[in-house]
Amino acid sequence: MCGIVGAFRREGGVLDELIEGLRVLEYRGYDSVGVGLLEKGEVVVHRRAGRIEELEKLLEGQRGSEARVGIGHSRWATHGAPTDENAHPHTDEAYRIALVHNGIIENWQELKSELVRAGVVFRSETDTEVLAHLVGRELATSRSLAEALGRALERVEGYYAVAVVSGGSEPELVCAREGPPLCVAATGEAAYLASDVLALLPHTRDVVFLEDGDVAEIAPGRISIKNRETGVVERPVRHIDWDSEAADRGGWPHFMLKEIHEQPDVVARAMFERLDLERGDVILAGEAFSDARLAVVQRVQIVACGTAFHAGLVLRYMIEGLAGLPVDIDYASEFRYRSPVLSPNTLVLGISQSGETADTLAALRLATLLGATPVSICNSIGSTMVRESEASILLEAGPEIGVASTKAFVAMLVAGYLFSVRMARARGTCTKEEGRALLDDLSGVRPGLEHLLARDSVKRIRAIAEAHAGKKGFLFLGRGINFPVALEGALKLKEISYVHAEGYPAGEMKHGPIALIEPSMSTLVLVPEDPVADKVRANVEQVRARGGPVICVGSDPESLALAEDAIEIPNVGRWLSPILGVVPLQLFAYFIAAKKGCDIDKPRNLAKSVTVE
Ligand code: M6R
Repeated sequence: MCGIVGAFRREGGVLDELIEGLRVLEYRGYDSVGVGLLEKGEVVVHRRAGRIEELEKLLEGQRGSEARVGIGHSRWATHGAPTDENAHPHTDEAYRIALVHNGIIENWQELKSELVRAGVVFRSETDTEVLAHLVGRELATSRSLAEALGRALERVEGYYAVAVVSGGSEPELVCAREGPPLCVAATGEAAYLASDVLALLPHTRDVVFLEDGDVAEIAPGRISIKNRETGVVERPVRHIDWDSEAADRGGWPHFMLKEIHEQPDVVARAMFERLDLERGDVILAGEAFSDARLAVVQRVQIVACGTAFHAGLVLRYMIEGLAGLPVDIDYASEFRYRSPVLSPNTLVLGISQSGETADTLAALRLATLLGATPVSICNSIGSTMVRESEASILLEAGPEIGVASTKAFVAMLVAGYLFSVRMARARGTCTKEEGRALLDDLSGVRPGLEHLLARDSVKRIRAIAEAHAGKKGFLFLGRGINFPVALEGALKLKEISYVHAEGYPAGEMKHGPIALIEPSMSTLVLVPEDPVADKVRANVEQVRARGGPVICVGSDPESLALAEDAIEIPNVGRWLSPILGVVPLQLFAYFIAAKKGCDIDKPRNLAKSVTVE
């Protein structure tokens, strides 16, 4: 989704820093890019459809720019095609300001008609340009750019993160937030803003996250924030532990492959300092996870999107199976538009890598409004979701750059397992000894992942993937707790290799999808050694009997023996089997996409974080 950066230096030009910031945000997906600079007090804009390289060609000869203040933007088209004209920044008519925007201005047509009637000539098809003109007009009668922006935003309905620069004798750099994320930071030498904390890390680890309604004015050594409701506010400075080098490919051909290989460490980090083996329990920070609070919970409602939704489906099996609590799960985008009825004492659990997914946030807010206690499982420490939850389990997975989520999924499953054990202990559905045994089972996960990611194992998965790369379609089957893993395998394959893939509960195959089985349709079946292994084996036989090629992934020896291609995974028990089972599917998708020459880290049409509906 769109990305914003901004910089204000005491000395030296900002152009290189803006370009570097935009590069850091590339992983989020975009189709045009631009910068707005204050050159000797004048607003100058450079923008291009396409990738950053196109902008760099345009900027050749400008790299010695002395502009000390500027903003940059990577756009993911919503209103108007990805053209040079529609790329951000946009300016007012007199080029007094340049503005970049993430989000949607819902009443833009109404505002545009009003501005056109007043004689304004529009140069793009975007909703954003409306805001640029409004700010430009307000500036004439305001004491500062921040005041002009605040006044213009009073007229706007919608969701936005915006950054604006204005020239003249005193350069100003301001930004505002209502919905999509925005963070700011100041050092003695410079001040920065960005829509994603990763773009600030090369400059500082001490960051301020803006809240909805905030308008911030930044300059070297200074951040002033005013909130629409409360006036002048101090927001806490948060120290971010993530290493900016973690956002580097470090020799791997793609972030996705790097992140798949990080998974053994990710699992270890998600468990770190959370296991209390002595008491057979889990340590989770936050009052909402205390014995007293969890003991009275009557229902869990999970809301999430995409891969996080699949993790939520796995969690349903874990929570129901271990803590004996009923669990409902909804796609966040569906939950918010059906009239959900929540029982008293419902815990609403939002799951999200970014913590900024618009639908998940809206669903979490709705459930909170209906009386549920909001908690979350999330990777981004300063995200909106974490801030709006009463308590959160942080994934500690480090930045996930590949658009196709991998390590966050695995970390969500670990966090969900810990949450389920904590819930079971708090509610007395498992004893200290049983709790200890459940936690002991985790010790097999990291070595199991290392085994799957060893060179020979990856080589074998690659060979299988390449042998099937030409098939016209793929069916992924799983049963019980591994059914969501089938969904996740199909999602990975379709999003990065653009081939059709469907995930299905294995038992549903004979109710329809079996009609698709033929030699050009490959079926991947998850075959853990668990109570439903014999039923899944029957599905494998049904596919084979109809001439369909089968790849079995799991630890059930009899099923593995039936398949023409088998990927054996270590047996870590029923509850933890999805954590290992998903890894060969991630690699399978990766190697098919690589063979097809797809842009793996930036798949077409996809954004890393979907901050609009
Ligand atoms: O940041 P979130 O976990 O809330 O994102 C949810 C989905 O947009 C995300 O999982 C998406 O489906 C990924 N591209 C999957 O690989």
